[in-house]
Amino acid sequence: MTDANQQGAAAPQQQAIETMQVEERRFPPTAAFAAQANAQPGIYARDFDELWATEAGRIDWFEPWTTLYEWEPPHAKWYLGGTLNVCFNCVDRHVEAGRGEKIAFHWEGEPADELVPISYVDLQRRVVVFANALRKLGVKKGTAVAIYMGMVPELPVAMLACTRLGAPHTVVFGGFSADALSDRLVDMGCEVLITQDEARRRGTTVGLKVIVDEALEAAPGVRAVVVAQRTHGPVAMTPGRDVTWDAACAGLSDDPASCPCEPMDAEDLLFLMYTSGTTAKPKGIVHTTGGYLVGAATTHHYVFDHKPETDVYWCAADIGWITGHSYIVYGPLANGATSVLYEGTPDFPDRDRWWEIVERYGVTILYTAPTAIRSHMKWGAEHAAKHDLSSLRLLGSVGEPINPEAWIWYREHIGGGRCPIVDTWWQTETGMILITPLPGLTTTKPGSATKPFPGVDVAVLDEAGEEVGPGGGGYLVLRRPWPGITRGIFGDPERFRDVYWSRFPGLYFAGDGARIDEDGDYWLLGRVDDVMNVAGHRLSTIEIESALVSHPLVAEAAVAARADALTGQAIVAFVTLRGTAEGSLAMMEELRNHVAHHISPIAKPANIVFTPELPKTRSGKIMRRLLRDVAENRPLGDTTTLADPAVVGELQERAAGENAGEE
Ligand code: PRX
Repeated sequence: MTDANQQGAAAPQQQAIETMQVEERRFPPTAAFAAQANAQPGIYARDFDELWATEAGRIDWFEPWTTLYEWEPPHAKWYLGGTLNVCFNCVDRHVEAGRGEKIAFHWEGEPADELVPISYVDLQRRVVVFANALRKLGVKKGTAVAIYMGMVPELPVAMLACTRLGAPHTVVFGGFSADALSDRLVDMGCEVLITQDEARRRGTTVGLKVIVDEALEAAPGVRAVVVAQRTHGPVAMTPGRDVTWDAACAGLSDDPASCPCEPMDAEDLLFLMYTSGTTAKPKGIVHTTGGYLVGAATTHHYVFDHKPETDVYWCAADIGWITGHSYIVYGPLANGATSVLYEGTPDFPDRDRWWEIVERYGVTILYTAPTAIRSHMKWGAEHAAKHDLSSLRLLGSVGEPINPEAWIWYREHIGGGRCPIVDTWWQTETGMILITPLPGLTTTKPGSATKPFPGVDVAVLDEAGEEVGPGGGGYLVLRRPWPGITRGIFGDPERFRDVYWSRFPGLYFAGDGARIDEDGDYWLLGRVDDVMNVAGHRLSTIEIESALVSHPLVAEAAVAARADALTGQAIVAFVTLRGTAEGSLAMMEELRNHVAHHISPIAKPANIVFTPELPKTRSGKIMRRLLRDVAENRPLGDTTTLADPAVVGELQERAAGENAGEE
């Protein structure tokens, strides 16, 4: 049971989550944007069946589907009877339609002199050769393949080659450890692994093949390893098992006819994406072929207002996460997009690298995460100011609630005050964006993901499962399926029911808290186990964090609760200050008053721990579980998924110091 559930049982009269912050800034669409927008008035009134039936027409089907969907919670199926191939839709059909010369990816290596434009016909040749290589290694329809790489062109090529053959893949983020990799290889039963010698990171190299070798000791089912040579660094090759990418491809045909696209059933497994839950074992989230592709392509078209002829689109996520699957690879390629694919970090060699990239390619649409935006805020707006960002016309955010101050900073300093911002809520499990503004239609509010995507049926419920009215907070649920919904946890139907379907029977419970305001706009309040109860008031961590970040000297903040004899829970804030500002008792008092002023005295942190860095996962999420442990002075749990494990040791010391000096 989560804290929130327990508290709800004790106090059933209260609304599930109290919210206090009031955000009054409004940004209506301009007439010029609205006139050219893909989303036009009337889209929200579209009939559910009509909408998803029509949108399925973005995809080329080998055999047309006969039944739109079947729904027996928790099981959904979409486009029954249809057959298709994802690689055909993402690559071949664009070449066949005469668009082969169009750029699919502007690939840019971390060393800034490596710029490789990859057209759709180049992509097709690379995919066909590599699919032929995989075939030679015995990969066929149904063979499970793992991919463990950095952001190199071979990564999307490998994914597309798998889908061409009908081989399901799992992409494991290149920052994961050997244990994390072997767990996934074993769970999925992977036979073939595709990797690279070394990855480039911040001017140095990270050995991936070394980690693979260690992982494979615990994953004996992997019989072949393909190694792309990114750095040509020295790596050990196991004879009979390991082969370089070039050797595997040598002499093979790049003629699409030599390796036809396998017709797949709409419900055949496309990929697994592993995600963490409340237990140590990662969940293999199942995505199938037809519904996923329709969902990713449709949302990419409307949410990003994507125009294939003129836009240069950049989703600055890593392909190793669901965001990269849906919005770097499958959605954009299905829509014939020209995208940027960048290998490196935002601050290498300098903190203006991203803005240099935007200027170089004339990026029009940028999609990133609040944590990245806050890093740029911390580094200062002068880095963006050095570059011409006037090509940008739309900005997106995903991954966590965005603090209103970060939203405003993004709008002003990156979007030049003219670009609509789409704050998109979704999950690994949802496969596609579900709550989002539609640019050209939606009046946006900093911090709100606004409205459910057309055809998506969202509600906010209280403890008892009753819908809460405008202004109320509670649990976010989905009442109807959508095409990209996960079909389950690989090999574990019990856990699937338990995690997502047992809190409110028959409804998908996303694990997030949300509030609906008087206009029907949704405000995501974070995971429900990030909800605190202070003196009988339930408070969302994000609201307090946003209040802290709205102080001009605060760069980043995270809050956690510790037990308190008087108030039940007390709030501990972990704060990173901007530039050269120093933490002090006076500063702590100022910030506590600032929060009191912005939210309520109840929300005042009991302590503030100043820290140069917050503990983050490699995907950039703040590890709140660890912060709770630090706040409670508990021994720390697993820290292996942290980007920099040293951060928490230092944090514990600082927290111990602060606690000693507590008032
Ligand atoms: O808590 C929500 C948060 O990220 C969770 C999903 O994480 P993951 O499966 O890793 O997928 C991230 C990319 C889709 C959600 O349960 N989240 C994601 N987007 C938002 C968000 N929280 C608030 N606002 C968002 N826009």
